[in-house]
Amino acid sequence: MGKILGIAIQNYGTLKNVKMGKLFSDQSSKELGNMIAVIGASGNGKSTLADAFGFISDCLSGDVESACDANNRGGYDQLVSQDSAEPIHFEIYYKETSNSRPITYELTIGKDKKNRPYVKEERLRQRRPKNKNGRPLSFLYLIDGKGYAFSGTDGGQDDNGSIEGSKEEVELSDIRKLGIVTLGAMKQYSRIEMFLDFLKSWFLCYFAPDTARQVQTSAPAPYLNRTGSNLNNVAQYMYRENPDEFKKILADIQTKIPNITQIEPVKMPNGQMVLEFYQQGFDHPFFSPRMSDGTLKLFAYYLLLHEKNPRQLVFIEEPENGLYHQYLTDLAIEMRKNVGTGYTKQLFVTTHSPFFVNALAPEQVWVLEKGEDGFSAIRQASSYEFVSDLIEEGAEMGDLWYSKYFG
Ligand SMILES: Nc1ncnc2c1ncn2[C@@H]1O[C@H](COP(=O)(O)OP(=O)(O)OP(=O)(O)O)[C@@H](O)[C@H]1O
Ligand SMILES: [Mg+2]
Repeated sequence: MGKILGIAIQNYGTLKNVKMGKLFSDQSSKELGNMIAVIGASGNGKSTLADAFGFISDCLSGDVESACDANNRGGYDQLVSQDSAEPIHFEIYYKETSNSRPITYELTIGKDKKNRPYVKEERLRQRRPKNKNGRPLSFLYLIDGKGYAFSGTDGGQDDNGSIEGSKEEVELSDIRKLGIVTLGAMKQYSRIEMFLDFLKSWFLCYFAPDTARQVQTSAPAPYLNRTGSNLNNVAQYMYRENPDEFKKILADIQTKIPNITQIEPVKMPNGQMVLEFYQQGFDHPFFSPRMSDGTLKLFAYYLLLHEKNPRQLVFIEEPENGLYHQYLTDLAIEMRKNVGTGYTKQLFVTTHSPFFVNALAPEQVWVLEKGEDGFSAIRQASSYEFVSDLIEEGAEMGDLWYSKYFG
């Protein structure tokens, strides 16, 4: 459970200084909802935003230097905003459930004396229980790998140095690794562990139908991977866990994929699972590798929405690629419905499609624009003049975007 109420990013490529939603450092803004679509012209930073989430994920699985090099990022010097003397900085404002106290995570990645990227500063803060307002207490604070952490579910240190709860001095042996990863692996730091689990559940999705056509060996997998290449393995897992429920899910998905009348899981003698798609006009089914790119992509998206223990934050880059434009509004409606308003799922999407955006509300659409300095700024579509009024009068977001009311 959990979602981010806001995020601030500094010095990450074209995102020199952007914030979305509510933050500890900006309490006046509204919290982010569960469905966020990011639009903007080419080069305005949509992929950079998606990549910032990916970068944070990559920092969890290795060290920050490897994360700077991974996924074509080209290393720290390419990644940090050009000519910026300041380090890369993230602030995440997170809440586990509606009545839990928000947690602020701050992460600063800079370069050490030998010009190697390292974790310059890391901090987790939370208010005292029952304290509606007031300064939060830091329960993890590391500068250059040294500092303190508080065990247990409460406590921390305030800015004046007064301490509540059980403080432990901490020094990391590797300053290129995140403190939350090292300490979150230890039972006594349950709050750090919980926050780490939340970050670990982020998922960046770049479905590529061709990889989903490859025949996979039999190996049930609970989650779709980045490219969707393990589609059949996920089907196998879902079928194994609960065949009846999986058949219901398939029946539901089938109603959303045009021209498909039935989807059947078929188990091969070697344990492998394949999916048969029955298509209008044909008596015999087709196996999934024979389906069109768009059909496979839609199927993968809908399967993603039906994951049993869903990833808490999913980021999809340009879901419209390879899909017929008329399907996009329905896909966005389903996504919006699926994420709901609770604390189980949050979905970020970048898109160029007015059809997709047509299903959304002004608060759900965020626009990236380039400033005169060449860096990007982001604002909610609802902040543009007339947009919310026109929507109330029955206009649709994608149409307004197309007509240049915003974006
Ligand atoms: N270190 C950097 N500092 C500042 N700007 C950078 C840096 N690295 C890349 N850029 C710029 O950031 C932008 C990256 O754009 P990005 O790929 O995020 O755009 P996009 O909105 O996804 O575009 P598209 O619609 O074409 O996919 C480019 O304009 C690029 O020149
Ligand atoms: Mg892009």
